[in-house]
Amino acid sequence: GEGRMAEPEEIVCFIEAEIKKKLPLVNQKILVTAGPTYEAIDPVRFIGNHSSGKMGFAIADQLASMGADVILIAGPTAQTTKHKSVKRVDVTAASEMLNACLLYYKDVKACVMCAAVADYTPASVSPQKIKKKDGGLNIELKKTADILKTLGEKKQKGQVLIGFALETENEEYNAAEKLKSKNLDFIVLNSLNDKGAGFKTDTNKITIIDHKLHKTAFGLKSKDEVAADICNKIAELIHEEI
Ligand code: C5P
Repeated sequence: GEGRMAEPEEIVCFIEAEIKKKLPLVNQKILVTAGPTYEAIDPVRFIGNHSSGKMGFAIADQLASMGADVILIAGPTAQTTKHKSVKRVDVTAASEMLNACLLYYKDVKACVMCAAVADYTPASVSPQKIKKKDGGLNIELKKTADILKTLGEKKQKGQVLIGFALETENEEYNAAEKLKSKNLDFIVLNSLNDKGAGFKTDTNKITIIDHKLHKTAFGLKSKDEVAADICNKIAELIHEEI
């Protein structure tokens, strides 16, 4: 009857829903890309890079903990997500990542493009394993599509687009050029010259450059803390739009 205690599962659901309602990114769909891409040379080999996916996964989890519905498009990586509300889509090559992004892009409020996408892919994939011969081997490469630039060209009013720049020289200049050419709201710069920043580490050191070219430099932090800084900035921008 009336006085009977509700089932514990119902109580938990009720509390979760009440908490979620008050989160800053509730009902916001956000697309995140993470990890490397692998570009096949033959059935055995590929061209890849050192991206671990840690930063992108930390961002996806942080956005989810702020109430967002996250679609995470992940290249090959050993990372796992902590949040059950993150919808993960696994891809391998840059072309697959592009197609997956285009599929979800028009329905999302924001995109955080954290993936280290290959810039070049073999012009053709050998159907058989390439045999070792005397002398060298030349592999012809063609450019991949720049996913972020493609999304920047299609950006709708009110959509927020964030990119990453991993630089080894002229860091701020190069990042600002990317911000403009890819039509971004802000870019997250990390330099391989900074100790503790970049691939595979659990820490990162970033500078955020916004569309007015204002720069905010952050200290060395764990990737989870860096993710929180980036996601707070995203929440700020989304709320300015609303
Ligand atoms: O031009 P660059 O590769 O340095 O730009 C880095 C940014 O662009 C990152 O946000 C990355 O995810 C994105 N990117 C992309 N597609 C590519 C290359 C980079 O989305 N083919």
